[in-house]
Amino acid sequence: MAENSANNIDNLLHEARRFPPSDDFANAAVATRELYAQGEDPVAFWGSQARGLLHWHTPFTPERTLDWSEPPFAKWFDDGELNVAYNCLDRHVLAGNGDRVALHWEGEPGDSRSFTYAELTTEVKKAANLLTALGVKQGDRVAIYLPLIPEAVISMLAVARIGAVHSVVFGGFSAESLRSRIDDASAVLVITADGGYRKGKAFPLKPTVDKALEPNADGQESTVRNVLVVQRTKGDVDWHERRDLWWHDEIAQVDTEHVAKAFPAENPLFILYTSGTTGKPKGILHSSGGYLTQVAFTHKAVFDLKPEEDVYWSTADVGWITGHSYVVYGPLANGATEVIYEGTPDTPHPGRWWEIVEKYKVSILYAAPTAIRTFMKLGRQIPQEFDLSSLRLLGSVGEPINPEAWVWYRDVIGGGTTPVVDTWWQTETGAIIISALPGVTTLKPGSAQVPIPGIAIDVVDERFRSTEADQGGLLVITHPWPSMARGIWGDPDRFVETYWSKFGRTTYFAGDGARRDRDGDIWLLGRVDDVMNVSGHRLSTAEIESALVSHPMVAEAAVVGASDETTGQAVVAFVITRASQADAAAADDASAVLRAHVAEQIGAIARPREVHIVSELPKTRSGKIMRRLLRDVAEGREIGDTTTLADTMVMSVISNTLK
Ligand code: WT7
Repeated sequence: MAENSANNIDNLLHEARRFPPSDDFANAAVATRELYAQGEDPVAFWGSQARGLLHWHTPFTPERTLDWSEPPFAKWFDDGELNVAYNCLDRHVLAGNGDRVALHWEGEPGDSRSFTYAELTTEVKKAANLLTALGVKQGDRVAIYLPLIPEAVISMLAVARIGAVHSVVFGGFSAESLRSRIDDASAVLVITADGGYRKGKAFPLKPTVDKALEPNADGQESTVRNVLVVQRTKGDVDWHERRDLWWHDEIAQVDTEHVAKAFPAENPLFILYTSGTTGKPKGILHSSGGYLTQVAFTHKAVFDLKPEEDVYWSTADVGWITGHSYVVYGPLANGATEVIYEGTPDTPHPGRWWEIVEKYKVSILYAAPTAIRTFMKLGRQIPQEFDLSSLRLLGSVGEPINPEAWVWYRDVIGGGTTPVVDTWWQTETGAIIISALPGVTTLKPGSAQVPIPGIAIDVVDERFRSTEADQGGLLVITHPWPSMARGIWGDPDRFVETYWSKFGRTTYFAGDGARRDRDGDIWLLGRVDDVMNVSGHRLSTAEIESALVSHPMVAEAAVVGASDETTGQAVVAFVITRASQADAAAADDASAVLRAHVAEQIGAIARPREVHIVSELPKTRSGKIMRRLLRDVAEGREIGDTTTLADTMVMSVISNTLK
């Protein structure tokens, strides 16, 4: 990268605000600086975390802490045995915490249920007995296709308890997506519901399952023997005798006692499908002991968890990795009290999230930047109607959080005092990899900052040389970690090729661009496939978006690199303006103002060729902006596959705006 361009594009480097921990927070913090020194020997560090945080039916021997003899297929704690569900449930009850609330569940229509650890343990024991009665055995795959209701958590833990493997499929996915996931894993059972609630309406799920289980185009029958149906909406359902069973009927007939058996640490725990750059979704495979160790450690240290006092809320759905690691396994392994919420943030009113924070006195909130920016757009008067004083720590995940959103999150939601931890990780990493430790780290808005203790990362160029400070490069993980994926289900070659071949078999290539600043802090620059090249200069979409969003007129922005005859690629931006400001400036004026603003913030090289004012951005159901589709628009191509969009109409709205 040319030297002057590095100066020009480094808008984020101008972010000079620093937030050192308060003395009060630091003195009471779970995390300590010493953890970093201990983490310098990752094998010893993770071995000691595994022993300290989990109950092992059979302890692993120190020599078997890590087996890296066949990279990239790691084995952690290989001769140890444990039961994941026992670790999340029974042991807390046996330790005298059976009366502590594990789960406060809030349904979208306003119904709610709470479960203590004793109650949740009983529910999971019953469900485990039910699965066994249905012939599900260790290693069998169970698909879970549910709304965010307690049975989702209970099902996952019941599958784990009997040593089987769950594959949770987000309830917003189509029949075709569900079918391909069921078929890929040869699932024997599907756990679903008649439906769930979203945006004030009951949406059906069971018909989607019925469709997914029809014989395929070749007339081949599904591998699924039974469908367990939770009654949620009481909507009409078609019934397939012998195959379909009501959860409530079956669960009433099973024993409430169940003894958790020990399984090997490397027993597979779950498969979770995630889309790659091309082709069909990859079934990312995670295993038991290493995964649980790292999610428990990170949940405790990164969220400063005090299980006796805190009320923790991750807004993620269990259909995503955040829901696995930081709704189910991390919090429950740590004996936390947590909130889960079925519905959308704006139903029945735009203050719903804040109402929930007030109702349950949530102290730790973990959410995505896209949600935060949406709230920014709506204005601070909405959260300000609620008592948010219980909040003492805020987390962010899923995409780079721009400094403006970070500061707004801290100021408006966190009352100007809470630390905000930006956590970088992936479905494939299983647990948090890069994050500040609250109480230890001086926070920088917009930077994910440092690898957690026991993790070794680097930022390298194409030739695997560590980049200089402030230079962009590729993020890699250079030492195996306990919660790393153990493979892609049924496709070991693809696993090696996708993640472990660019720099050899012992270096994990994350697919993200990053930059390390002069303090050694990491700034994520977005997927490398979203990095643009304009006149030979590398520009990050995240960086330009950050500049756009820093303008008071802008609520949200997405930037793509569109091919350009002269410059290779050109910057094309799609911007949603704030409601109040939108009328003030006509669209033409607004785009001229914003082009100038980016040029001013970053440098002329980054000035967008076009800034389109739009009313919506295409997002996946998990809230990720689908830049691929915007690139299609920007390049005047026919718009590609829109099936994973949350709202499939968005693209025609955008195209029409541009005409
Ligand atoms: C990709 C992984 C991690 C759970 C949710 C997403 C992006 C994730 C951050 C962050 C910048 C982030 C990366 C990564 N990402 N967290 N804090 N800052 N980027 O999991 O669907 O597997 O996506 O999300 O690009 O590669 P995922």
